[in-house]
Amino acid sequence: MPKVRDEIEISHSPPSAEEYRSLMRSVGFTVFPAAVAAESLKRSCHAVTLRKDGVLIGMGRIVGDGVCFVEIVDVVVEPVHQGKGLAKIVMDALMSYATTQLAEGAFVYLSAHVPADRLYAQYGFEATAPDAVGMCYRLGSAPT
Ligand SMILES: CC(C)(COP(=O)(O)OP(=O)(O)OC[C@H]1O[C@@H](n2cnc3c(N)ncnc32)[C@H](O)[C@@H]1OP(=O)(O)O)[C@@H](O)C(=O)NCCC(=O)NCCS
Repeated sequence: MPKVRDEIEISHSPPSAEEYRSLMRSVGFTVFPAAVAAESLKRSCHAVTLRKDGVLIGMGRIVGDGVCFVEIVDVVVEPVHQGKGLAKIVMDALMSYATTQLAEGAFVYLSAHVPADRLYAQYGFEATAPDAVGMCYRLGSAPT
């Protein structure tokens, strides 16, 4: 696998469900059951992973119709490795996919967890409020 820097390898395919669950757990994000996570990862339009010594330390993915409407989700860097520019490596790769693979005029959405909005602003993302407000409906009770 190609190295981006400091022995960090980049890959353009989804992580395993267990790697994914472990990384999400490390930042307090929702940890879906293994089978659900596996199915979700499989349906990604594109995924980027960063590994050090074979261990998943960062990722991000694009989900959606893959043509006109997509969403960037699961941009996460393992806490020990934060603040070293790894999220920018992930975003560079995701935006490279978006700009080359999506239709002209396509919408790329994301829900920014403040202060990560500062990361996305560097890639041209703008808050939609007040003209449009992001809304979310969460099904059932949250998995643990
Ligand atoms: C948000 C997150 C992915 C950033 O990862 P990272 O590898 O530490 O980020 P980078 O070092 O590449 O920094 C990229 C930019 O993000 C912004 N940023 C990252 N962490 C920040 C923080 N704690 N406060 C303010 N801005 C921050 C900065 O603008 C930074 O660019 P700059 O250094 O040029 O100002 C990481 O903190 C994380 O995994 N957080 C928990 C999960 C999460 O909230 N993910 C975002 C979902 S929308």
